[in-house]
Amino acid sequence: MKNSLLMLLALAGGTMAYGQAKPAVYVVKADLIKAHVQPTMYGIFFEDINMAADGGVYAELVKNRSFEFGASLMGWTEHSKNGGKGNVKVIDRSTERPENPHYITIDVNAGTYGLNNEGFRGMGIKQGETYSFSVLARQHNESKIKLIAELVDAKGTVIGSGEISPDDANWKRYNVKFKATATVQKASLNIWAKNEGLIDLDMISLFPEHTWKNRPGGLRADLVQKLYDLHPGFLRFPGGCIVEGRDLTNRYQWKKSIGDIDHRENIINRWNTEFKHRLTTDYYQTFGLGFMEYFMTAEDIGAEPLPILNCGMACQFNTGQLAPMDQLDPYIQDALDLIEFANGGPDTKWGKLRADLGHPKTFNLKLMGVGNEQWGEQYIERWKVFEKAIKSKYPYMKLISSVGPDPDGSKFDFLNATFRGFHADILDEHYYRAPKWFLDNVKRYDNYDRKGPKIFAGEYAAQSVAIASPDNKNNWQCAMSEAAFMTGLERNADVVNMASYAPLFAHVEGWQWTPDLIWFDNLKSFATPNYYVQQLYSVNKGTDVVPVTLNNQTVTGQNGAFSSAVLDAKTHELVIKIINTTKTAQSANFVVKGTKGLKATGILTTLQSNNLDAVNSLSGDIVSPKKQSITIANNSIKLNLKPYSFNVIRVKLN
Ligand code: AHR
Repeated sequence: MKNSLLMLLALAGGTMAYGQAKPAVYVVKADLIKAHVQPTMYGIFFEDINMAADGGVYAELVKNRSFEFGASLMGWTEHSKNGGKGNVKVIDRSTERPENPHYITIDVNAGTYGLNNEGFRGMGIKQGETYSFSVLARQHNESKIKLIAELVDAKGTVIGSGEISPDDANWKRYNVKFKATATVQKASLNIWAKNEGLIDLDMISLFPEHTWKNRPGGLRADLVQKLYDLHPGFLRFPGGCIVEGRDLTNRYQWKKSIGDIDHRENIINRWNTEFKHRLTTDYYQTFGLGFMEYFMTAEDIGAEPLPILNCGMACQFNTGQLAPMDQLDPYIQDALDLIEFANGGPDTKWGKLRADLGHPKTFNLKLMGVGNEQWGEQYIERWKVFEKAIKSKYPYMKLISSVGPDPDGSKFDFLNATFRGFHADILDEHYYRAPKWFLDNVKRYDNYDRKGPKIFAGEYAAQSVAIASPDNKNNWQCAMSEAAFMTGLERNADVVNMASYAPLFAHVEGWQWTPDLIWFDNLKSFATPNYYVQQLYSVNKGTDVVPVTLNNQTVTGQNGAFSSAVLDAKTHELVIKIINTTKTAQSANFVVKGTKGLKATGILTTLQSNNLDAVNSLSGDIVSPKKQSITIANNSIKLNLKPYSFNVIRVKLN
């Protein structure tokens, strides 16, 4: 009986059954601190790609709410009922309102006339949830048009409605709330105009009342919760190539992303046309999720804000357009003003604006990226001007500088050498590579100059097929390779201060790039195995790196094992991470030295699958962390490491 129980335990993983093959002996020196782990170590890369913002975390349900898409009525269809007759015209007022040039006029000749909005791949509606409909409206002359907002399912059954009676010949905002009577994955919104006459409409909007922190016009709570659960050290925003734009006219300009939403100029999303195989013709940026919302989200989730600004260069994979050197001032001014916006007191122009927008407290901005994924001499030229201007006014700012799109090669070598010569603060390295690259490069930072710039692994993800291939999967092999590689980030925490997986979000029907950390549809979301890897590192980042060795060597792939260890000075715990990348179970014995002793029990968290192709989905997780308690005797932790497993051991020190 006792033997079969032990056998079961061994098969199930966890505490090792004695009598197995001789275990590999890993030595952890708990009193030999090698590096401090920065609180910023594991963070989030956010970009509006894959419908991450509009159609995603920004909870607006109406697509093209202000008629600014390439085709002004994209997403809208005219319709009538009860013999209704009329028409809808798009009016151009670009001279008067260049930032919001279009609105519509509904002309009702008879009965009930109106439009339907299809939402972003439909509208996800939840039974019992309250929805807030709002619109800017203006009646013509003597018109007394009533508006009915009506949510319908695919068959046209009404699942919620509200009515408003605009009463002014000037633009005014109207609002009505109503409850949905059914849960529908792909609902749509009817706007009905009743009574003859003409009415102007703009900013037609529908939000669930329940958003993140229940902010009106806010963010999808389930998606921000997933970010919160990562306990991220920083939030990088707004990208990514979106910062750069295909050309400079559609670069990200933070000043146009704050204040009243009907004054935030909409532009095309550069991912709309990026990939011929994933054209997304209805992808635009409303900036409802703008810089104020990014800063507040960072604050909500306990992350350092990390804005990345355009440095006068459009995406070099596209036009590569350059702002001439003698016309860089507005770009530099944007950077300086952003620091004042985040950190300035109410007596400063931009600090006062932040306070007026509802946030008197400063955002304590310390990090800023100059350019996204730039390269070449032209980048250096522009970077130097930015660096001088920012550092002379705000010497405390730490600047992030790009070393290009690849982790090696001529672009990387040039930028790496140049920025090291400049004693730059932090270098932003990107690697979208095969899973094998991640295993082979676990020692990448072992020989980096300890006195040189710090490293921000700003965008990385294992690609199961090829870079940005539409066939890439968030499978266990990729996630496990990232976990193995991250032991190298952790071991080198004195050099690597920040790291983030990219991209972050993807709508299952609206994506352009895969793999991505979190996937969602209109109602639900799921975490990938890669998400759980990030989370396990982040919640177990500890404070100080200590060595773990096998035969006096760091554990960087011997017998397919990768390992690192940290102390958590706040909780007085030792945390050991070990990844078994082989298809066979392995016996391991962690002998912990340099401590007065370990508590008799600890916690083992395992992320594992026997199937390297395993993926999670909206139907449920195949790969997710499993916790169990383990027993410890004589400062030695004996484990059976399951095949293809990422294991995190947490144990209290006496
Ligand atoms: O993460 C997707 C893209 O990859 C980013 O926008 C860009 O910085 C990189 O090339």
